[in-house]
Amino acid sequence: MNGIKIRGTGRALPAQVLTNEDLSRRVDTSDEWIAGRTGIRERRIAGTESHSGLCAAAARTALDRAGLTPDQVGVCLVATMTADTLIPSAACMVQRALGLPYDTVCLDINAACTGFLYALHTAECLLAAAPRRFGLVIGCDLFSRVIDWTDRSTCILFGDGAGAAAVEHRAEWPSIGAVLGCAGNDTYLRCPGPGQPDTYLTMEGQKVFKFALEAVPWCIDRVLERHGITAEDVDFFVFHQANARIIDLAAKKYHIPPEKYRTNIRRYGNTSAASIPILLSELAEEGKLPAGTRMLLVGFGGGLTWGGALVGTC
Ligand code: UT7
Repeated sequence: MNGIKIRGTGRALPAQVLTNEDLSRRVDTSDEWIAGRTGIRERRIAGTESHSGLCAAAARTALDRAGLTPDQVGVCLVATMTADTLIPSAACMVQRALGLPYDTVCLDINAACTGFLYALHTAECLLAAAPRRFGLVIGCDLFSRVIDWTDRSTCILFGDGAGAAAVEHRAEWPSIGAVLGCAGNDTYLRCPGPGQPDTYLTMEGQKVFKFALEAVPWCIDRVLERHGITAEDVDFFVFHQANARIIDLAAKKYHIPPEKYRTNIRRYGNTSAASIPILLSELAEEGKLPAGTRMLLVGFGGGLTWGGALVGTC
């Protein structure tokens, strides 16, 4: 017991659209190659929008949709690795923008593309001891800031955006039972920190792809096992949007019918820590996540990290 459920969601995307055709004028690539290998047709790229502005906008919508006000929030977490500043954290900027109470626990979490799963688990732990029972869990990344725009193997993959979930904690609710892990690896996906000679993101795509094909089923199996359920008992599967082929292979393996999972990578690319909450907010808007929906969330990414959880709506 001692668990959280999602009560409201929101998202904020930069206005500027960068299509595969646009990219094919910058590097040696094509819409056919990108769409065929990844499912991506376009992505959003931040222009005037700031990281903290997108976080705040997504969080405000999530609170509104949850019927909550900022003074009810006790924990505010931002999963990210591309915040405007290392100090203050993005979460501190959300505290200021929304006017969250001064005793709100605010911190950023870097688990790369798995960040939202890590943040949900952390929120569940922190809310058990927080002054108020509601929390904000935000995923936001502006990978356009760390992309080498001359590297065709990475610049076609990522997009910018933010998604947020307003969560509620109750002692009588079951835990989301998150399974999280890491295999310290600093070569497959790497982005050096400030002060390093080269601060661009680099990736060994095929190796990450292979890792994802193992990590996704591993997470699904562990989550199902932990909750004593089968894949048929899950109402909706929400996958990190890294590559449509990875998602389709998982759906095939678990015989997940098309109405129980969704991809939006076509429009946004891989938005890293934001991909799961952006998708959640779209699904909620379409009325696909009524109260009582049980979703199995799965993420994976740099680190290498992975995570899964069974999350309900209320
Ligand atoms: O969020 C978690 C982190 N990321 C991921 O999950 C990404 C996982 N990896 C992938 O999705 C795939 O590995 C990619 C989409 C990145 C690449 O697809 P791939 O099928 O693994 O391609 P590849 O890296 O094996 O490259 C195949 C060929 C190479 O040419 P040669 O050596 O066969 O002549 C590349 O140089 O495709 C070439 N290539 C491109 N061609 C056109 C690489 N990028 C491009 C490009 N356009 N953008």
